[in-house]
Amino acid sequence: MISPLITIAQALVAPGKGLLAMDESVGTCNRRLAEFGIAQTEDARRRYRALLVTAPGLSEAISGAILFDETLGQATLDGLPFVDVLHEAGIVVGIKVDTGAKALAGHPGEKVTEGLDGLRERLAHYASLGARFAKWRAVLSIGDGLPSRACILVNAHALARYAALCQEVGLVPIVEPEVLMEGEHTLAHCSDVSSEVLHQVFKQLHNQGVALDAMILKPNMVLPGLSSDVAASLDDVADATLNCLLRTVPAAVAGVAFLSGGQPAVLATARLNAMQRRNHASGSTSPVFPWPLSFSFGRALQQPALRLWAGNDAHRTLAQNALLHRARCNGAAARGEYRAAMETEGLSP
Ligand code: G3H
Repeated sequence: MISPLITIAQALVAPGKGLLAMDESVGTCNRRLAEFGIAQTEDARRRYRALLVTAPGLSEAISGAILFDETLGQATLDGLPFVDVLHEAGIVVGIKVDTGAKALAGHPGEKVTEGLDGLRERLAHYASLGARFAKWRAVLSIGDGLPSRACILVNAHALARYAALCQEVGLVPIVEPEVLMEGEHTLAHCSDVSSEVLHQVFKQLHNQGVALDAMILKPNMVLPGLSSDVAASLDDVADATLNCLLRTVPAAVAGVAFLSGGQPAVLATARLNAMQRRNHASGSTSPVFPWPLSFSFGRALQQPALRLWAGNDAHRTLAQNALLHRARCNGAAARGEYRAAMETEGLSP
């Protein structure tokens, strides 16, 4: 039962490949469309997602696409189901299965992700529609006294319950505990919070019998808060993130695929590359980290494409090229071969 999941998990983090997160809920997708003055309709969301899934050559750097419930049932303008288009391209289909982060009782300013009720049946339904992996996102804020222990524990528990259900049903779980960037905190504070969150997540995954080699971890990079006035270099971020993961993530985990979390797209790519370079440093005899390291970006892959499309299908090709460009740059970063010059000189690594 577990060994096919291990194969899928390994394929999702194959060298030079990563995930396209296009699983925004209706509300989040509408907010992103509104930023560029695009109509917030089911038709606009479908046309935009059709553009993404039909981008020629997407599978060069994209191993899997995370869809949302609405998107899983949608089709291109020619009537081809998105699921079939992705399968045809050799891209594994995934699905976001949480029902969102809701206010945590008794803990103002904190959230717990919901969606466990009826999850076994929903997972089986998604699997029957062609999904092979799933995603559940917990969000934790850093602030005065935050995150609370309660917030960390309930989210870790829910992530593990979700992951165990996924593996029972035959889906690879992507486990996403996201420590948000908003705040004035330092890099060191983000590292402490991220470490504690990951410790508790892996404790729960162990307690609940989740097979680590059949799951992917989707963590935040360790970053200073958005309102912090201290800059962090690529090396600072790479070192802080890898040290945090090395202290907390068991070697058996099939792969680590970072979320972008609102970082500027090019910076997210450069930071991933800086980490990956640690395993490619000349003279190193053994890898610095044991897991495949990759990306599962939403905004950092999509934003340039969405800006160019702007709701006008005459700009589809431009938008698809922008998506492919970011996918290839991130694919290169996942091999440690990204160079800043790739942003302007074309796409050959
Ligand atoms: O859950 C969040 C998405 O899957 C990743 O989105 O890269 O824009 O943070 P992001």
